[in-house]
Amino acid sequence: MSPIRTERHGDVLVIISDNPPVNALGAAVRQGLDSAIRDGDADAEVAAMVIRCDGRTFFAGADITEFGKPMQEPGLPTLVDRIEASSKPVVAAIHGTALGGGCEVALSCHYRIAVPSAKVGTPEVKLGLLPGAGGTQRIPRIAGVKLALEMTAKGDPISAKRAADAGLIDRIAGEDSLEADAIAFAREVAAVRPLPRASEKTATADPDAVAAFKKENGRRFHGFDAPNANIACVEKAADGSSYADGIAFEQREFMRLMMGVQSAAQRHIFFAERQASKIDGIAADTALRPVKRVGVIGAGTMGGGISMNFLSAGIPVTIVEMAQDALDRGTGVIRKNYEASAAKGRLKPEQVEAAMGALTPTLDFDALADCDLVIEAVYEEMSVKKDIFTRLDSICKPGAILASNTSYLNVDEIAAVTSRPQDVVGMHFFSPANVMKLLEVVRGAKTADDVLATVMALAKTIRKVAVVAGVCDGFIGNRMLMPRQVEAMKLLMEGATPEQIDRVHVAFGMPMGPFQMSDLAGVDIGWHRDPNRIESIRDALAAEGRWGQKTKAGFYDYDDKRTPTPSPRVAEIIESFRAKAGSTVREISDEEIVEKTLYTMVNEGALILEEGMAQRASDIDVVWIYGYGWPVYRGGPMFWADTEGLAKVVAGLEKHGFAVATSLKDKAAAGGRFN
Ligand code: 3HC
Repeated sequence: MSPIRTERHGDVLVIISDNPPVNALGAAVRQGLDSAIRDGDADAEVAAMVIRCDGRTFFAGADITEFGKPMQEPGLPTLVDRIEASSKPVVAAIHGTALGGGCEVALSCHYRIAVPSAKVGTPEVKLGLLPGAGGTQRIPRIAGVKLALEMTAKGDPISAKRAADAGLIDRIAGEDSLEADAIAFAREVAAVRPLPRASEKTATADPDAVAAFKKENGRRFHGFDAPNANIACVEKAADGSSYADGIAFEQREFMRLMMGVQSAAQRHIFFAERQASKIDGIAADTALRPVKRVGVIGAGTMGGGISMNFLSAGIPVTIVEMAQDALDRGTGVIRKNYEASAAKGRLKPEQVEAAMGALTPTLDFDALADCDLVIEAVYEEMSVKKDIFTRLDSICKPGAILASNTSYLNVDEIAAVTSRPQDVVGMHFFSPANVMKLLEVVRGAKTADDVLATVMALAKTIRKVAVVAGVCDGFIGNRMLMPRQVEAMKLLMEGATPEQIDRVHVAFGMPMGPFQMSDLAGVDIGWHRDPNRIESIRDALAAEGRWGQKTKAGFYDYDDKRTPTPSPRVAEIIESFRAKAGSTVREISDEEIVEKTLYTMVNEGALILEEGMAQRASDIDVVWIYGYGWPVYRGGPMFWADTEGLAKVVAGLEKHGFAVATSLKDKAAAGGRFN
């Protein structure tokens, strides 16, 4: 059955799409729309048409699952031209999100009406693409170059109100009366001629706006192909070229991006992120435990950040500390963070007060008795965690979920001190916990299905991307970080410098390299604190107080603005270690750095999969994109390995004598892929 049906309301033909969940413009929808528009155009009793959608949203874009396959006719560019060419007015009636191809369908209609809560946007750039059905040509013609650059090259949707101010929406409907208002609007404009067609308007070139936009977003766009292609298309729309030439240019650029690795990687991550929330072996309709109040133990940086996630989502938090000054400090930091957001206009003052009003700071552990979920965020020391969980076991109500924010400790060992290991789970947030999107949810041997399902659902509520990990040292992310750090240190001994290794990682697209990361996190993390025991380069740095950015010296020297410069002292320390070990220093190529620090991560990822510590390769990719800043245009380590070619990865690892994971070797031999 076609997802498109029509209804007659007097002389207005209402064309309705019902293609759950998001009314993606797949082949059947395009075919149905195409024939409904033709029928309406040919029917003498129809004076105007309305296109609207059932369900939660107007068309949310082209059907991304069709990308990379042969396109069935009519393609979106053909469809939008058909709609615009109609001899009778067509009104788009928008609710939810008119995104990508959905926005382009709306722009090809002669009029647009939207409910106040609707959003309009062209997020294709986030899939490594551009609006390929006339969006880059119609938006600047209606709304000007400046907004077109914002919408296409950055990809964030805009509100109905902003769209109306810019001329992209002609009328705002009542929130609950969209269809009736759209039909009334269609009747009002039924006789108006000539029909307003976006393709017939002209856009004015604005080189200053283009230059300013490029300058302002240079860092954000660095490494990505798609933003520049979007900018070039918008410029083309306003350079005096005909609409047809503009469309031909847009089409060429769209196809170029579509065939490229970056878009494949970004599309992979789009689906990987959604797949990650699905838990193997647990029914999708598993009943969830209600979580109405959350307890957080520890008001340090981590505990405070974790609390903010729930407060921002309207879930009250009881935060517990050992000492009043630590509690006051922690509460003060939370308030300061909220006020900083308010100062930037991201929150209203009343939202700050509402969040702070939902926070109950206390020194009394017993106050956790009425919490539905308690997250422990204290020092990474097994004995401390065990003490806390023993206490929680005696305080918390039956059915409460007991979570640890540990970043590498054994969750099963922690659970074993309680009489309810089925209620214990790991919730590993990444710092700063109120900002970073990743949450590793650690499934213990005895964690109950409904506990896992509840925590995964809760992650969505607090706008995190959650990935299920098994119990192993460092779970997914930190476990894969280990070989990278170890190999980077070995490379220093063989002749590389911290600057060279970091440069290779930054050129690859990482926000920072291994040594810059150590300096940011603190060189003293995990240090034994005995200045006389110097067994490694890190020990030597820590013993000299070179603890990283916080002491203005680590693997680099830092000025007051935290700008790093290579450190002669660090070079001396490295040299002394090389001499002591009798290392032969040689020239290290960038390629060797990639093989030793990145291929080893892929190898560790393969082991994680073999051991069942991650559900799927794409989950590993999600962890690295959202937790560590792996460049999304490379699709995560496992997807990147696929694009490198697994045989090449295996050869690179073997060349340096690494033990290659069996599954990686087997896949490479069979010409397979992880994703
Ligand atoms: N094509 C195919 N499937 C899509 C889709 C699309 N455009 N958009 C969403 N879906 C699927 C999701 O994969 C998910 O499937 P699942 O349930 O099997 O995991 C399901 O729809 C629901 O999606 P979400 O979980 O994301 O639902 P939310 O309510 O959280 O968000 C949304 C809804 C804001 C519409 C979000 O899904 C979204 O941003 N979608 C993508 C929008 C987009 O990028 N559009 C541009 C497409 S490219 C294009 O149009 C090219 C054109 O210019 C030629």
